[in-house]
Amino acid sequence: PQPEPCNIVIFGASGDLTKRKLLPALARMHHWNLIAPNSRITGIVRNHEWDIDHWRSYVHDALQQFRPDCLSDTAAWQSISDMLALTVGDLSDAQTYTRLQETLISADGKTNVLFYLAIPPEWYERVASNLNAAGLLNESSGFRRIVIEKPFGSDLASARELNRTLREHMKERQIYRIDHYLGKEGVQNLMVFRFANTVFEPLWNRNYIDHVQISVSESLGVEYRAGYYEKAGALIDMIQSHLIQVMTLVAMESPVSLDGDAVRDEKVKVLKAVRPIPADRVSEFAVRAQYAGGTVEGKRIPAYRDEPGVDPDSTIETFAAIKLYIDNWRWQDVPFLLRTGKRLPNRVSEIAIRFKRPPMNLFSESSSQLPQNELIFRLHPDEGMVYLLNAKLPGLNDQLRELALDAPYAVAGADSPEAYETLLHDALLGQNALFSRADEVEESWRIVTPVMDAWKQKQSIRFYEAGSWDIPEIETMMQGCVGCWRDLS
Ligand code: BG6
Repeated sequence: PQPEPCNIVIFGASGDLTKRKLLPALARMHHWNLIAPNSRITGIVRNHEWDIDHWRSYVHDALQQFRPDCLSDTAAWQSISDMLALTVGDLSDAQTYTRLQETLISADGKTNVLFYLAIPPEWYERVASNLNAAGLLNESSGFRRIVIEKPFGSDLASARELNRTLREHMKERQIYRIDHYLGKEGVQNLMVFRFANTVFEPLWNRNYIDHVQISVSESLGVEYRAGYYEKAGALIDMIQSHLIQVMTLVAMESPVSLDGDAVRDEKVKVLKAVRPIPADRVSEFAVRAQYAGGTVEGKRIPAYRDEPGVDPDSTIETFAAIKLYIDNWRWQDVPFLLRTGKRLPNRVSEIAIRFKRPPMNLFSESSSQLPQNELIFRLHPDEGMVYLLNAKLPGLNDQLRELALDAPYAVAGADSPEAYETLLHDALLGQNALFSRADEVEESWRIVTPVMDAWKQKQSIRFYEAGSWDIPEIETMMQGCVGCWRDLS
C-alpha cells in the first residue's frame, strides 16, 4: 500500500548511510509509487556552504553511483528533485529546529513526519530532546516517528539509559530501531516458511532438531569504518544485533497476529529464555579472532591492525562465534551456534537447521551413521532454501546419496526490494514488527555481556589469515552437537 504523504527528514544528510542506503531506497520507493505525492525529503546538514542546489546535485550523484536505474527517466528524477528540501544548521542549535519546522508541508490536513537519524548515536538524545523542545514530536497534526540505527548503546547500562532518555521525549511506539537484517527478504521468509506451512512446524523443536547454525561470512574488511569498528568488533557489530535477531525468528512461538507488539512479545520471550553464559566458562561458549594479512578473492589484504584508523595493537575481534541455549520447552539443550567474520574466504550468509539422525542405519553394512537432514535458508550470495535429504543412488546398488532440494527464492523477473526499502516503507506505514523494541535490545545486551566482559579483560587475541577459516577453536563449540560446522566455501 502507498503510505500517507509524509515529510521525510534526514539528519546526517551528507553522510555515508544517506548516500549508500537511504537515498537509493527512497528513489526506488518513489519508482514503485510508495512515496505519496505531496511528500517531502528534507536533508539536514551542518555545512553552511550547502544550498538546495548542492543538495539536489548530491542526491543526483548518490543515485548515479548507487541506483542509476532510478535516473534513467528524466521525469522521475524531476519529481524526486521537486520533493527535496534542505535545512542548514547545527544539531545543538534550537534555531535549526525552528527552521526545520518551517520546511514541513501538510497534505490532506496532516503534517506527518518521519525523522531519520543517520548520525552518530552520541547525538540521539540531544536531537530527540531538541525535537521535543521545538514541539516537533507532538502528534496532534499527524504522526511523528523517529528511526535510529544501531548501536543502541554500547552495553546494557548505556542501552537502558538511551531507551529511558528517548522515552522522556516520545513514546516507545514512535521509535523505530532499524536492524536491516529484519528487512531482508530471506529473513522475513523465515516467518512465512514456519507459520504458513504445516509440514515443518511439528518438527521444529528439541525432539527433531539437533542444533541450529547461523552464519554470516563476509569477504570485505572493515572498509572506511575503523573508528566505529574499533569500539564495536564483530560481537557487537553483528551478533548482538543481526544474528541474535535472526535467532529469535527461528526460535519464537507463533505470534497471535502480525501486529508489531504481538511479534515482538514472542521474540522477547525467546531472548529472556537465553541461558546466561557463565562468566568463568566464556571460552567454551564464545570464540574470537582477528584477521592477519592474507589473500581474499585473489587480492592481497593487509592485516586488520594495519588498516587505516586501527590501533596497531588492537585486540578487537573481526571474527566472533557464540553458542547459546534457550531454556524453554521447545528448545531445551538445543545449541544455537552463531558465527560471523570479516575477510573470510567469501560472502555467504545462511541459517541452517540441522535435524537429528534417524535412529539406525538400515542401508549400509558398515556401522557408519547416515548424514543428517538439513534445512538451509540462504541469504547470500543468492536467497533460497535447500533441503538436504538422503536418497538412493540410482542403479543396482544399495548406496545412498545426499539429495538437495534447492529452491531459489527469487521469482524470475521479480524485482526484490532491498532491506532499507522494506523497512522505510514499513516505518512510513507505521508497521513496527520488523523494528527492535527497547526490551529486545536490552535482552540482547544482557546475552552478550559476559562475553564482552571476558574479552575486555584479555589483552591478546588470536589471528586468522585473511581469506581463510583458520580458526580451529570453533570446533570445540560443536560439543553437544552432531556433525560439524557447515563448510561455507
Ligand atoms: C552492518 C555491519 O550492520 O551489516 C557491517 O555494521 C556489516 O559491518 C553489514 O558488513 C553486513 O550486512 P549485509 O547486509 O551486507 O550482510
